[in-house]
Amino acid sequence: MCGIVGYIGSKQAYPIIINGLKRLEYRGYDSAGICVVSETPFTAKCKGKVSDLENFIGDHSVAGTIGIGHTRWATHGEPNDTNAHPHESMNGTFILIHNGIIENYGILKSKLEKRGYIFKSETDTEVLVNLIEYIYLKGNVTPEIAVRLALTKVVGAYGIAVICRDEVDTLIAARKGSPLVVGVGDGEYYVASDATPIVEFTNSVIFLNDNDVAILKRNEMVLKTIYNEALEPNIQTLDLDIEAIEKGGFDHFMLKEIFEQPRSIHDTFRGRVSTNPFDIHLGGLYKVIPNLVDAKRIILIGCGTSWHAALVGEYLLEDLARIPVEVEYASEFRYRHPIIYKDDVVIAISQSGETADTLAAIRMAKQAGAMVLGICNVVGSSIPRETHAGVYTHAGPEIGVASTKAFTAQVTVLIMMAILLGRKKGEINDDRYNELINELANVPDKIEKILQADPLILEISKRFKDATNFLYLGRGYYFPVALEGALKLKEISYIHAEGYPAAEMKHGPIALIDDTMPVVVIATKDNSYEKIVSNIQEVKARKGVIIAIVTEGDTVIKQMADYVIEIPEAGEVVGALLSVVPLQMLSYHIALLRGCNVDQPRNLAKSVTVE
Ligand code: AGP
Ligand code: GLU
Repeated sequence: MCGIVGYIGSKQAYPIIINGLKRLEYRGYDSAGICVVSETPFTAKCKGKVSDLENFIGDHSVAGTIGIGHTRWATHGEPNDTNAHPHESMNGTFILIHNGIIENYGILKSKLEKRGYIFKSETDTEVLVNLIEYIYLKGNVTPEIAVRLALTKVVGAYGIAVICRDEVDTLIAARKGSPLVVGVGDGEYYVASDATPIVEFTNSVIFLNDNDVAILKRNEMVLKTIYNEALEPNIQTLDLDIEAIEKGGFDHFMLKEIFEQPRSIHDTFRGRVSTNPFDIHLGGLYKVIPNLVDAKRIILIGCGTSWHAALVGEYLLEDLARIPVEVEYASEFRYRHPIIYKDDVVIAISQSGETADTLAAIRMAKQAGAMVLGICNVVGSSIPRETHAGVYTHAGPEIGVASTKAFTAQVTVLIMMAILLGRKKGEINDDRYNELINELANVPDKIEKILQADPLILEISKRFKDATNFLYLGRGYYFPVALEGALKLKEISYIHAEGYPAAEMKHGPIALIDDTMPVVVIATKDNSYEKIVSNIQEVKARKGVIIAIVTEGDTVIKQMADYVIEIPEAGEVVGALLSVVPLQMLSYHIALLRGCNVDQPRNLAKSVTVE
């Protein structure tokens, strides 16, 4: 899941690559490395972050107008200096960076070893660079042909950028499975895993497709497949604001993204809901509405936080549109031989649009003949390009590894879809429609209000920062919120946390409760209010410590809970959007107080492009 950057042009490559890598660090931060070429290549790489690489390079002048850089999320071989990319071929002819996994690296490696190749690292990547060199030297072919031929031998996924020492005015990039974007400038080209390192220089981009190879010289680009079929570049204009990918005065991306939610949720529904006429416009779904209305069932798939959004989606679609819904982890769905009918609609939910399991699951569903839709945030990413239709969430770039505003944007899209389908199916009359749209329209202001509770949440966080376990409870729409709250805490503070449907607690987890156990309960005034009050009493009876998320003005739970965080009153259809925000803030503060790296938690990466 690494981030890769390449540049060829007339500017100095080093600063472009280093800044680009910093933007891509969300993809992995086990090690970083660069290779910049003036007359000869200069390579530097080390374990750690891009800032460690900068320190490592220090005052050494790195001159050159062509270069490549990598920030790694290790799959093969531990994160250390040797396994860091770029990797050089044994005779030093090729230098390569790679995002992905060469699945048949074992066979290729032993074949190369038999031909005298010696390997320095434990990576799959080094096998590829040596294979390219072997073909180049043995076959006496051009570097481009060597790269293409080597790639035809590869099973697995790759986004690569390669420089050949014998042709240092050429940068070769290729993709299969892992994303790669080429930025087209004036006498210069950029290559990156996503567009964020590129947008400050050019908004003309080409999203490479699987099996594409781009051969880039300063004033010329040739695009072809690995099988040497010529391709016409499809240059697109990107609408990505550089400010949107900077921290904008916040200490961390995660905090910025939490605080952006009033705006990002508004951006998600802006121009899409109308009360005159009573209509929801989701342009991307226009042609497939009949399939959705007639769907025998909808299958929502995703991973992690996107899977939690899918669970909220199940409640919404069944509640408002009365369509049967199943929710599946993409990773299970793809391997468990599921029954997929032709009149099923499969909807993949993904912030990045690149999650390998989700991508593989939609390919399988397509093959089974189902209509496949996407709800994605990153425009032009793989999932939106492979689905029949879909909806962008328009939350803007999410950089913090812990997903926050992408979750609320996904839920907002699902609310709109459920209302739209409920209308089409005659389940929602005008009055109910008006009520629901009003609820949605008021969400941004209500979240503004919740954000003002930051000092209170900081105080609560100080009290619980050293806890070793947390339990999160919720019912109905708030059960997925409980799961999401627990995941947020786990991933950035490394505290063990469990999310449970509140009523399930008595079937097991209640045994965990003692006077050291913080229990976060989402207990707003909704249909199951009375029931959740009983669940709180059950915890209190066992001396558990309650942190309750309650509706403003609640006096009953205030008497029982140890801490309360109030959120404005709202209908439960939008309840997940509001109640998740204090949980995001709680995990942020606890992680920070524990000295954790909030934006780049250990072992994780933003975009999981490997299985
Ligand atoms: C969320 O905080 C996680 N970092 C992770 O669970 C994430 O939601 C998951 O990897 C799915 O990513 P996607 O939405 O980009 O497909
Ligand atoms: N497989 C390569 C490595 O371990 C690249 C990893 C990745 O893309 O995450 O170095």
